[in-house]
Amino acid sequence: MARSIAELFQRLTTGIYVIGVADGNRRDAFTAAWLTQVSFDPLMVALSVNPDNASHAMLKNSGRFAVTILKQEQLELARHFGTRSGADTDKLAPIDWAETPAGMPYLKAALAWLDCRVNTITPAGDHELVLASVHAGELLDAEAVPMSDAETGNMDNSAALFPASFPSDHGHS
Ligand SMILES: Cc1cc2nc3c(=O)[nH]c(=O)nc-3n(C[C@H](O)[C@H](O)[C@H](O)COP(=O)(O)O)c2cc1C
Repeated sequence: MARSIAELFQRLTTGIYVIGVADGNRRDAFTAAWLTQVSFDPLMVALSVNPDNASHAMLKNSGRFAVTILKQEQLELARHFGTRSGADTDKLAPIDWAETPAGMPYLKAALAWLDCRVNTITPAGDHELVLASVHAGELLDAEAVPMSDAETGNMDNSAALFPASFPSDHGHS
């Protein structure tokens, strides 16, 4: 059953992004699939962040983050930023990166980047939902195809995190 819920939810498709954060002279970045646009005017995105991520405290303290939109062929970047923590290693050190106008790190090999300012943070189960407005951005490679989370398979071992069954709906109609 756990496998079937994982397989069901893996059909909810998103892109794959690298979220860059900075606080003072510290920087970090992590891979994220749970990001989507939620408003045209003002331009806004929602991002779901695991509070255990080392990036989480920096994002909260600075109230800002950059979104790097990855290209289809950039699986190694998704793995690099998504399978180890910045608490243990400086993940940005071996990577070519630059800063958004607000000073947040994005990857120069990106398809595009966005500069985001946090509006609200709401608890969302085992994650926190960050609503943010987008203040700048740049399309770096208009010909490239964005990466889809289906390409990453079970790179983050998240299949094991799904519940064994749906919560009982006894008592509800
Ligand atoms: C494909 C993929 C998608 C991920 N999506 C998210 C996500 O949407 N939100 C999140 O908080 N972590 C996500 N992660 C996990 C973080 O990238 C991972 O925990 C990372 O090591 C955290 O880095 P940090 O401790 O340096 O912040 C994802 C990982 C992978 C490989």
